[in-house]
Amino acid sequence: MRKKLVAVLMTACMALSLAACGSSKSTGGSADSGDNKQITVGFSQVGAESDWRTANSKSMKETFSEANGYKLIFDDAQQKQENQISAIRNFIQQEVDYIVLAPVTESGWDTVLKEAKDAKIPVIIVDRMVKVSDDSLYTAWVGSNFELEGKKACAWLDAYLKANKKDSEKINIVDIQGTIGASAQIGRTNGLEAAVKEHSNWNLLAKESGEFTQAKGQEVMESMIKQYGKDIDVVYCENDNEAFGAIDALTTAGYKVGPDGDVIVMSFDSTNAGLTDVTNGKIILDTECNPLHGPRVKEIIDKLQANQTVDKQQYVDEEIFAADDTVKSVTVDGKEYAVTATTKDVISKRAY
Ligand code: AHR
Repeated sequence: MRKKLVAVLMTACMALSLAACGSSKSTGGSADSGDNKQITVGFSQVGAESDWRTANSKSMKETFSEANGYKLIFDDAQQKQENQISAIRNFIQQEVDYIVLAPVTESGWDTVLKEAKDAKIPVIIVDRMVKVSDDSLYTAWVGSNFELEGKKACAWLDAYLKANKKDSEKINIVDIQGTIGASAQIGRTNGLEAAVKEHSNWNLLAKESGEFTQAKGQEVMESMIKQYGKDIDVVYCENDNEAFGAIDALTTAGYKVGPDGDVIVMSFDSTNAGLTDVTNGKIILDTECNPLHGPRVKEIIDKLQANQTVDKQQYVDEEIFAADDTVKSVTVDGKEYAVTATTKDVISKRAY
């Protein structure tokens, strides 16, 4: 009887140690480093509000594929923070190896990220930022410098107006903002507001959220046209899809959009569709926001798997695309950034 009990205990111990070997966290090494351990990644995505977001989801799905050694649990939060919080709790319950969060807004994450930390699951923040009381609640962040994007756009507008001898005219601007509280909105709005303060002839007529969508961008533009009509000189859209909606509203209302028209439209993202509108002048300037974060997040996970240190925060390099070559470069905070005059050839070399 005693012998039988010992045999049962030994079998149980062997089974337990085999299970421990099967856990990707205990072994280290990347998913494709030859140890054939599938890594489970729970990704809470903001939604599907824009072309940028579609490109971002594609990049994540292509990178974290089964063929590359991952199991990706993808959750579309439909632009709602409460859905993201539930998704993270589900990932914790499922004991994923990593949680990747593209947060809809910056605040409101402390509690759920503490739960992930208590469960010892590393959290990687991607795209927009989180504002938390304790930085150890996430492992790393990679994304865009949204305020720099806003500053670059405004430095270009300043140079463009000077080149066209309009720098002493009154310039009326409307801002179709992104989702309020999202880093992309905060940075781009701040960039504009700081520039308006520096230019006594720039006047911010109105700002309202277009929620980063084409439909809402169009709706907001329609209401701004009703209120301010021909007074509007510049429409500062905080992403490409809002710009598409704004252009539709303006052309339907009989406005000529473009360098020789009634109004100019500025945008952010530089998606292929956005840049196509740059080549025809409908969008005068598109400041890049790069969505191809899949490989960047993978690099972070690879390093963590290999027990290497990772940068806490990583900014992505981004370009500036204009409808013409009036402005060749802009200088922001002492650094010079080239401006590309957009052609079909430029667009054909880009991936999104
Ligand atoms: O956070 C990135 C922003 O979110 C992109 O500019 C926009 O298109 C997206 O919806």
